[in-house]
Amino acid sequence: MERTFFHGGKRWWPPRLLLFAALAWLLMVYLHLAVFHSPPVTAPPHASSLVAAVASSDREDGRRFLLRQQEQLKKIAALPAEDEQRRLPRGDEETCRGRYVYMHDLPPRFNADIIRNCRKTEDHWADMCRFLRNAGLGRPLADRIDGVIKSEAGWYDTHQFALDAIFHNRMKQYECLTTDSSKASAVFVPFYAGFDFVRYHWGYDNATRDAASYDLTNWLMSQPEWRRMGGRDHFLVAGRTGWDFRRSNNVDPDWGNDLLVMPAGRNMSVLVLESAMLHGNDYPVPYPTYFHPRSDADVLRWQDRVRSQRRTWLMAFVGAPRPDVPINIRVRDHVIAQCKASTTACTMLGCARATGSTQCHTPGNIMRLFQKTIFCLQPPGDTCTRRSAFDSMVAGCIPVFFHTGSAYKQYRWHLPGDHHRYSVYIPDADVRQRNVSIEAVLRAIPPATVERMREEVIRLIPRVLYADPRSKLETVKDAVDIAIDGILGTVARIRNGEYVDSGGPVTEDPPNLFSSTESVFRQKESSVQTDR
Ligand SMILES: *[C@@H]1O[C@H](CO)[C@@H](O)[C@H](O)[C@H]1NC(C)=O
Ligand SMILES: *[C@@H]1O[C@H](CO)[C@@H](O)[C@H](O)[C@H]1NC(C)=O
Ligand SMILES: *[C@@H]1O[C@H](CO)[C@@H](O)[C@H](O)[C@H]1NC(C)=O
Repeated sequence: MERTFFHGGKRWWPPRLLLFAALAWLLMVYLHLAVFHSPPVTAPPHASSLVAAVASSDREDGRRFLLRQQEQLKKIAALPAEDEQRRLPRGDEETCRGRYVYMHDLPPRFNADIIRNCRKTEDHWADMCRFLRNAGLGRPLADRIDGVIKSEAGWYDTHQFALDAIFHNRMKQYECLTTDSSKASAVFVPFYAGFDFVRYHWGYDNATRDAASYDLTNWLMSQPEWRRMGGRDHFLVAGRTGWDFRRSNNVDPDWGNDLLVMPAGRNMSVLVLESAMLHGNDYPVPYPTYFHPRSDADVLRWQDRVRSQRRTWLMAFVGAPRPDVPINIRVRDHVIAQCKASTTACTMLGCARATGSTQCHTPGNIMRLFQKTIFCLQPPGDTCTRRSAFDSMVAGCIPVFFHTGSAYKQYRWHLPGDHHRYSVYIPDADVRQRNVSIEAVLRAIPPATVERMREEVIRLIPRVLYADPRSKLETVKDAVDIAIDGILGTVARIRNGEYVDSGGPVTEDPPNLFSSTESVFRQKESSVQTDR
């Protein structure tokens, strides 16, 4: 029998050993009850006493949360083991049928030339060159400077907005690429839309910002591949949020370019880090993290490592306050205040940006902290989503969300629909208006539940990371594999006439909260290094 990836080899235990353990356990229970007459085991004393210490309404919240959580766990237990985690490794006709992708060979002005001028200039982008090395992964993290990640391969100082390059390079490893476009189910367009955004964002007029997008769409429309479906089987990666490519739909008419608003742009599927959820054609994929494994074994080793970490902190927050955000949605202030107040349970890496602090931008510090923590707090920042949510999951730290737009309504391809499996949700209004204690809510979750949630987070690690584009995981699916599955499914539905408009899934209520205030946030965001 093969060692199964997600069971850490426990199946290897000889049955006799299990039987022996079970008998020993029964004997101990018998002795315990018969000899010591102990009361039945209840919740651990620290959990109950801390719950008791909070106001009764909070206690109610904690209990209700607990019941909901237990309901969910029963459902999870009934689910079959998931085989969808594995990719078909062979690239032959049989396994690739319906999965062939044709990659356009674009003129270099659409990708290589854009990043050739990556040096910092006065009105241009900040120095991106160091982040573009190593196929877009950035500088390798070295033990001594970067701390925590000793003897683990695959760690880089990856920029959160470097996905254009990472994805392009990673696509070159896709096992069902074809040079025969008539055989392809989808067409990949390796345009560096995110880098194009940033090079002309500050101090340029509309025409300059839109120039490359116009040029690209004209080029695409002149190709034979376009005619087949009017471009609706095409996809590209724009490694920023969907807001950055819809200037005409934004509240702020001076933000971004119009790639996603142009007729040809509307017909393509575009992978972004955060969808604007305007019933459009932009599909969210995870932010890049610092971990880029080269083999299945790298993934497995890392999963084993985070599984066995001793976690001394109940919760952690890494990030800066957002003083510019309207007060009615400024949940970060409350998260930070609560974290500061619970000195024994919460740890924090501050990063006030005004002072140019680098503390929260140091990958080693962040990953070290998350590995020592059970729950990682992920309040919205410049926008609803955060890179930090994915960093925390890679560290085996259970994310705590305050807004449904931070993950649940976004990463439907990559994260389970049943969000209780892998995360905690505390509505931001509860924290802002009702002063609900985050610590109390988290303490009320029984240890066994925490254990199962963490195991689910660890199981999800490969799905939310981008493998090193220069090598190839043997069978484990990474975020790119999942995204391609999503694109192929979407194109198939378009082909079957399931979408009448421009493509995207019709999502229920978009996060109005953020679309109305979006421009305020984004104005404050620096062009390159934001808080993660
Ligand atoms: C730039 O485009 C936006 C809409 O896309 C428009 O509202 C704005 O007026 C334009 N700015 C200029 C200076 O033309
Ligand atoms: C977009 O797709 C529709 C439907 O296939 C097609 O009629 C239209 O011409 C396409 N737009 C462009 C710009 O090709
Ligand atoms: C919120 O609750 C904490 C204790 O849980 C308390 O110290 C604090 O004063 C409360 N704040 C408000 C505004 O009620």
